[in-house]
Amino acid sequence: MLRITGLNKSFDGFQAVADASLDIEKGEVVAVIGPNGAGKTTLFNLITGQLTPDSGEIWFREENITGLPAHVISRKGIGRSFQIVNVFDRLTVFENVQIAVLARRGNTLNLFRPARSMAVKETGDVLANVGLSEKRTMTSGMLSHGDRKVLEIAIALGSRPELLILDEPTAGMSPDETAATLDLMTRLSGDLGLTILFCEHDMGLVFSIANRITVMNHGATIIQGLPEDVRRNRQVQKAYLGGDVPC
Ligand SMILES: Nc1ncnc2c1ncn2[C@@H]1O[C@H](COP(=O)(O)OP(=O)(O)O)[C@@H](O)[C@H]1O
Ligand SMILES: [Mg+2]
Repeated sequence: MLRITGLNKSFDGFQAVADASLDIEKGEVVAVIGPNGAGKTTLFNLITGQLTPDSGEIWFREENITGLPAHVISRKGIGRSFQIVNVFDRLTVFENVQIAVLARRGNTLNLFRPARSMAVKETGDVLANVGLSEKRTMTSGMLSHGDRKVLEIAIALGSRPELLILDEPTAGMSPDETAATLDLMTRLSGDLGLTILFCEHDMGLVFSIANRITVMNHGATIIQGLPEDVRRNRQVQKAYLGGDVPC
């Protein structure tokens, strides 16, 4: 579904992504792990068009999407959440998701009031999928950190992606919230059939949900494999998992 080859991105001579490659099949849940600064977020920004690569190619469903603008890539079926929560605080939970639904349809909230009512069912469905229905009328700024992160996923789902990219979905969450997010990702993958690419520091979550894992370091994708293979890899154990590998 997604194929990345030889991807490079530098910032003022600093190579943040270096000859990265990645392959994702439809229906897979793929984790990218690696220390802070490894280039995970930059890689995601390149895939979703927030950044333009210096070289290399990104193919999505047999189409070369390298360098296309973010809104075009979003409409082709790649949705993402951000490492830093990206929510309109003054709007309600419902409105935040509705905007994403309307954006996909090429409308905006203010210009097309009829569209606003049309998106109600779909927005409600997205909120039900992530378990936020009861908080739909809450002002987003009042949400707990964990609920805001889930709202971010809901916003990403509003663009009705086939490939969902999540940047540290459980960052800053309590253990309970992390467990709920793991359940949510499992449901999105299983019930909705979404393909998921995510990066995450919680190795428990990574090893319990990922079908395959890619390890990044210094911008390069150094190892890709099944969780068992990555877990067994001594280089990975020493450098990136700190010996603290769940078995
Ligand atoms: N816009 C930018 N300008 C300059 N340097 C950047 C920019 N974005 C990321 N970097 C640098 O690129 C490296 C990789 O960052 P990032 O992709 O955020 O890593 P990760 O998500 O794995 O922690 C870091 O050293 C970071 O400082
Ligand atoms: Mg990051």
